[in-house]
Amino acid sequence: MDNAGTFPAVRPRRLRTTAAMRRMVAEHRVHPADLILPAFVREGVDDPVPLGSMPGVAQHSLDSLRKAAGEAAEAGVSGIMLFGVPDEAKKDAIGSPGTDPDGILQRALRAVRAEVGDALVVMSDLCLDEVTDHGHCGVLDAEGRVDNDATLARYAEMARVQAEAGAHVLGPSGMMDGQVGHVRAALDAAGHTDVALLAYTAKFASAFYGPFREAVNSSLTGDRKAYQQDPPNAREALRELAQDLAEGADMVMVKPGLPYLDVLRQVVDASPVPVGAYQISGEYAMVEAAAERGWLDRERAIEETLTSFKRAGADVILTYWATEFAQRWGRERA
Ligand code: PBG
Repeated sequence: MDNAGTFPAVRPRRLRTTAAMRRMVAEHRVHPADLILPAFVREGVDDPVPLGSMPGVAQHSLDSLRKAAGEAAEAGVSGIMLFGVPDEAKKDAIGSPGTDPDGILQRALRAVRAEVGDALVVMSDLCLDEVTDHGHCGVLDAEGRVDNDATLARYAEMARVQAEAGAHVLGPSGMMDGQVGHVRAALDAAGHTDVALLAYTAKFASAFYGPFREAVNSSLTGDRKAYQQDPPNAREALRELAQDLAEGADMVMVKPGLPYLDVLRQVVDASPVPVGAYQISGEYAMVEAAAERGWLDRERAIEETLTSFKRAGADVILTYWATEFAQRWGRERA
């Protein structure tokens, strides 16, 4: 051959020729056991209330939440993360529904545990924004700023009532300094030494939380920039990681997901404990909205985004598509 040597000897395309070949050499795959379903439960409703900005997601009633938890478990999803939406009239400056044993989140925890027992890891959001009338993640000082240390005292009490209601894992998401250590000490003092903490290690002040505000009927005006991390900062996430580990975090998480895959990778590389990624409301809404317009292939886009978290090293993924993905996974392998 007179042109020998001008054609490539190395042909990566060989391993892409058939679906079976591609499947065999895939470096990463998403399994239902990787997934955690975030779910909203609203006080005083008999039927689920659909969310306009998150098509396919609803604020559950206690009944529909039980059913959703059962379906998630059946599909092989690993966990569920609960967010409570109390009656507007019950919200106040200190977030009383968060520490009321009969608050909606505590009732939801008991209902879900009654339904699934230990078949799902039952988790709850440990934050004040869903229960305060000002919508901030903490209590405010006289100047209207979020008071870090006064907030820690509220988190400690919330942690105890959530643990008593049956949570296996608590997710402190308020970005107060010292929240993991303070909550750990409160749980241990109350005998809840087995209740684990999923620390929101890197949580950025993101525009992508938009639809979540509808999901929890948020009362917030303004923003959370004085306590959540600033999007340009990645090294700061490693500082938060070191602090959360020192305070006893059992697992850590990066949030949002897609816009922070680089941060996820850095945290994975540095973390001796399992790392989660939270694919948040705005990421869900982006894909659903574009798919609705026929601008992208919905199922492919979902799988591709979930795979990107695995490729970046996540051990678990919180996603509103958890049950749907797990059910499809089961059907395709049936
Ligand atoms: C705070 C909290 C938020 C989310 C989870 N926990 C909102 C915020 O920090 O503003 C967002 C989740 C999502 O957008 O899907 N309790």
